[in-house]
Amino acid sequence: MPYPYVLLSAAVSLDGYLDDTGPERLLLSSPADFDRVDEVRASVDAILIGAGTIRADNPRLLVNSPERRAARVAAGRPAYPLKVAVSGSGDLDPEAKFWHTGGEKVVYTTDKGAERARRVGLGLGGADGGGADVDVVAVGVGLDWRRVLEHLHDVRGVERLMVEGGGTVHTQLLQQGLADELQLVLAPLFVGDPKAPRLFGPGAYQGGRLRLVETRRIEDVVLMRYEPTAPGAGSLPSAADRRWLSLACELATRCPPSSTAFSVGAVIVAADGTELARGHSREGDDPVVHAEEAALAKIEAGDPRLASATVYSSLEPCARRASRPVPCAGLILEAGVRRVVTAWREPDTFVAGADGSGLLAGAGVDVVVLDEYETSAKAPNRHLVG
Ligand SMILES: NC(=O)c1ccc[n+]([C@@H]2O[C@H](COP(=O)([O-])OP(=O)(O)OC[C@H]3O[C@@H](n4cnc5c(N)ncnc54)[C@H](OP(=O)(O)O)[C@@H]3O)[C@@H](O)[C@H]2O)c1
Repeated sequence: MPYPYVLLSAAVSLDGYLDDTGPERLLLSSPADFDRVDEVRASVDAILIGAGTIRADNPRLLVNSPERRAARVAAGRPAYPLKVAVSGSGDLDPEAKFWHTGGEKVVYTTDKGAERARRVGLGLGGADGGGADVDVVAVGVGLDWRRVLEHLHDVRGVERLMVEGGGTVHTQLLQQGLADELQLVLAPLFVGDPKAPRLFGPGAYQGGRLRLVETRRIEDVVLMRYEPTAPGAGSLPSAADRRWLSLACELATRCPPSSTAFSVGAVIVAADGTELARGHSREGDDPVVHAEEAALAKIEAGDPRLASATVYSSLEPCARRASRPVPCAGLILEAGVRRVVTAWREPDTFVAGADGSGLLAGAGVDVVVLDEYETSAKAPNRHLVG
């Protein structure tokens, strides 16, 4: 299922803290950076925080600029993004500013949490009901982030989600491979109190390096934008899977045109997010080479990283081919790769009943089909499939 684009946003001290332990919220950003945050808020469909931040900071989470709100309305959007809270306990102050400012609000909570939240007046219909007009969504005994993201996308129409903390929420989304982007602001001050909240807690993060996509000085703070790069595990897609597959689809557009073969792009990525190789159909001087074949040929046979790598291919690897003895699904199995992410199942255009995904899955490979990329995988093949 498609999820919203998830953008984590936070400011930290030089020693990595999100806040101090005093009663007032510690202001880490500079005025110009608060304005940048306002601009990001104005660009998204929803802003999410954890109940811990509501309790600690009592924030309003608004788009403060009237011009930005007016621009949203002119574009047919609500003046304010949807405000989203998550809480396991349902221990929420119904008088918190979060519920009484801005536009629509929703809280995702457990069944027990929903009972508790409703008991204090959340979800009772605002002015008429006497409580705050909040959509209280009960998600069962525990909160599963994928279900929350799916619900936001499918039911609330959220395409872009900004997450404004706190550390517990950021940590889970990053560790579960659900963050598309991290916008981190480094403020030139120290907190120095081990009891203060940190941005990221302990646990299993992606092994390798994130991709640094931007640094920007804003008065005396620095904004750094990172993208996670690690493939997902097994059948569960990560945000990075989507980015790599989108690159494979982009590579497909670079293929020399052909009326007798598909244009396909492929990327092979190690478990720590390192790109091992990429390829596209008919690249170089080889008029029949396939994308996965071209990429695999650039990696030394027996490279130990292949066993935990993921192959991204805009079209599923072929199961049969006339031009070479071993189809790409066979080459992938020979290389020892155990995970494939693809956008498009092979149509009957050249080979009837081709089922590369079935062949791979039958051999124990995890095959993930992200069909929201099918249109872009098909784009360079329109002359073949209409
Ligand atoms: N500098 C910044 O940019 C920034 C931004 C935001 C916040 N902060 C700071 O961060 C601190 C708060 O961070 P925090 O880590 O304590 O709180 P948090 O991440 O805002 O919220 C944690 C709470 O969210 C709910 N929650 C999160 N994941 C859940 C899950 N998987 N299942 C069920 N419930 C879940 C739980 O609520 P329940 O307890 O209700 O079950 C949990 O206690 C504050 O000091 C705040 O000032 C700083």
